[in-house]
Amino acid sequence: MVSRVIPVDPFDLVIFGGTGDLARRKILPGLYLRFEDGQMPEDARIIGAARGEFDDAAYRDFVRAAIDEFVPKAKRHKESISAFLERLHYVAIDAKGEGGWKELAKLMRPEIIRAFYFSVAPSLFGDLAERLHLHKIAHRKSRIVVEKPFGHDLKTAQALNETLAKHFKEDQIYRIDHYLGKETVQNLMALRFGNILFEPLWNAQFVDHIQITVAESVGVGGRGGYYDKSGAMRDMVQNHLMQLLCLTAMEPPSKFDPDAVRDEKLKVIRALDIPGPDAIVRGQYRKTKSSPSYREDAENPDSLTESFIAMRLHISNWRWNGTPFYLRTGKKLKSRVSEIVVRFKEPPHHIFGEETGTHANALTIRLQPNEGMDLRVTIKEPGPGGMRLIDAPLDMTFADALGKEASDVPDAYERLIMDVIRGNQTLFMRGDEVEAAWAWTDPIIADWEARADKPVEYEPGSTGPEEAAILMHKDGRRWREISE
Ligand code: BG6
Repeated sequence: MVSRVIPVDPFDLVIFGGTGDLARRKILPGLYLRFEDGQMPEDARIIGAARGEFDDAAYRDFVRAAIDEFVPKAKRHKESISAFLERLHYVAIDAKGEGGWKELAKLMRPEIIRAFYFSVAPSLFGDLAERLHLHKIAHRKSRIVVEKPFGHDLKTAQALNETLAKHFKEDQIYRIDHYLGKETVQNLMALRFGNILFEPLWNAQFVDHIQITVAESVGVGGRGGYYDKSGAMRDMVQNHLMQLLCLTAMEPPSKFDPDAVRDEKLKVIRALDIPGPDAIVRGQYRKTKSSPSYREDAENPDSLTESFIAMRLHISNWRWNGTPFYLRTGKKLKSRVSEIVVRFKEPPHHIFGEETGTHANALTIRLQPNEGMDLRVTIKEPGPGGMRLIDAPLDMTFADALGKEASDVPDAYERLIMDVIRGNQTLFMRGDEVEAAWAWTDPIIADWEARADKPVEYEPGSTGPEEAAILMHKDGRRWREISE
């Protein structure tokens, strides 16, 4: 495939937390892949900054090992890896003290884009921002990238926003939600606003309901400490599912520009009703002979944290009045599937008679695996014997349609980091958006806490608790099967 990537301007990218898990798994392999694809200018440099006492050579060994582990074999070329590693440097830094800052300042080149990736605990954001200014490392051309969790609730998110605002303007702050970097998520916007076909039907008059599923097969083992304080609501719904909901439900922005898009998303969050307890199902995976329970993984025998959540939501505006949005996400489910299903209404009048059954169109947007879209249309069952109707797929798997291997679709982090360098904030969350999402989340969690709400148990490898299916059945609907 001929690469059509647009090179970016030269930059110095500093990764605070440069030896951490996210750097190893996502950021550094992603940067290598952009380099390998020819998108990195000759003089771009990446500087790892962390507490450990590495030198450049040791850091390069560390990054080489990360590439070996996390980059697909077909993309690991010896010469490319060596050339990429030459761009890497390392500074041992003390986020809360003075160690390393002078060295870092000396390394930075003038008149070049400077990006600072805060891949560290949020409690260090303020210290880093302050020291970047104190040592005159940050200038107007600088950007900072901050990872989730962006706060634990509205109050902490506001405090974080205030801390960052002391040293950086909003157009310099890139709050990452890696779901926004996924290929299909952006395709959702292309589909909605690049075609005439769907938008006229994209409202309560024609859409029966919308389902958003992010199912994972992994448990929380290994990160139970963090997860038990978050649960599916804070870990997934407040950010990733909320973003998917916004892009599905928002009004067309006047242009594809960061603030125009984010203004429309913000309006959706503000129009979102707070669901009552009867519209929410919380679950925890139970123990089996071969795998530990959620509570064992979380090392908290009395934990009331949910590893699964399903909810029915309403958006109070003209477009969506009467069309419910069903969200579900959970760990240790049957398989790893993320998708958005837009289920249209049945035709208003059945000319083929009762016996042909009920049929309705459904559009499924698959985020992973096998990114693509699938539109179910009603057709006549082939053959003689009268008019029998069946639902058939108009399927477009991107890998087939575009002749690409699935592995050629860049990872979300690759795209997002390059957007930081380009200075494009469209796929990053604005401060007010994050705060609005917490303002919606907080009362829901407060209600569980006030009632000491106990999650129901579900079987690992299943589609979640039965109560989640019942939530839909009560409305005369059902979830799309979780299957690859
Ligand atoms: C992270 C969550 O933000 O997203 C994890 O903290 C979750 O709990 C992950 O597993 C899912 O991301 P992806 O890209 O694998 O669907």
